Amino acid sequence: MRQAETVESPIHKVSDWNGSTGDNWVSNQMRLDAMLEVFGTEALAAAAPTAGEHVLDIGCGAGATSFELARKVGPDGQVLGVDISQALLDQARRIAPADISVSFERADAGEAPLPQAAFDLLFSRFGVMFFDDPARAFAHMRRALKPGGRLAFVCWRRAAENDWVRLPMGAIEDLIPTPPPPDPEAPGPFSFGDRDRMESILGQAGFADVAILPFDHGIPFGRGENRDAALDDAVAMAFAVGPLSRALADQPQDLRARAASAVRKAFAQRPGETSVMIDGAAWIVTARNPAA
Ligand SMILES: C[S@@+](CC[C@H](N)C(=O)[O-])C[C@H]1O[C@@H](n2cnc3c(N)ncnc32)[C@H](O)[C@@H]1O
Repeated sequence: MRQAETVESPIHKVSDWNGSTGDNWVSNQMRLDAMLEVFGTEALAAAAPTAGEHVLDIGCGAGATSFELARKVGPDGQVLGVDISQALLDQARRIAPADISVSFERADAGEAPLPQAAFDLLFSRFGVMFFDDPARAFAHMRRALKPGGRLAFVCWRRAAENDWVRLPMGAIEDLIPTPPPPDPEAPGPFSFGDRDRMESILGQAGFADVAILPFDHGIPFGRGENRDAALDDAVAMAFAVGPLSRALADQPQDLRARAASAVRKAFAQRPGETSVMIDGAAWIVTARNPAA
């Protein structure tokens, strides 16, 4: 049932950060932060923020990395988190720890006016893959960097390398017509999966010293007191966020039930007691704004 052509499909589209996608992220924020934490930590290590620096956290979502960055730059530094999703920014403000100082602003980072030559570091954890014209957006964001300033972000490699899509979508292949694969260059979580494309985009945007390194790590998908509870939670999570949730959104209850059992079987192949440990594949990307 696999279809070869690539067309825009609502199943792969993730543009409603101010609609159900954003709301689902808020509802699952703690679980998503637990899943993504190790990738953010790796990107933060590559970014190496230091005391007193000014940092822009792009697509900051509910703010987990903005809080971490604020701790690293300390009281003499500044962190501004920008995101297009009101729901996620509201959540970030709700859960911001009292002992740090961080500002949040609703803005499309790819085109909203940003302070010029103001930041030492542009950072992002999975928040830079959604621009319609990425070269233009990165050129725009680069102008917010001081000369010699740094860019550091983490993004997903290809969907086929990432279990959080590969496992659940593979499990329902025989139950519903497989949606056409997304255009790999269309805005979405995997739009930077291709290393060469990303390198060319960052070059066109004017960045120098681009380094793109693979980072593979297990992801604790779902949580529970024991194996059964963790598997149930992993299925619930796959039904709540990502392409499976969209593929099944309008399907009848009996098909959703069969899909749940197929997805559970797929997750059961993976190890883990209080979480289902699945494989995650990301790029850690660093670059520099050339000195003037
Ligand atoms: C996968 S989430 C990651 C959120 C957060 N960085 C984290 O790691 O938890 C992607 C985020 O990028 C935001 N986003 C998407 N396009 C954006 C844009 N053009 N400008 C700013 N934020 C954007 C979304 O609203 C969402 O919060």
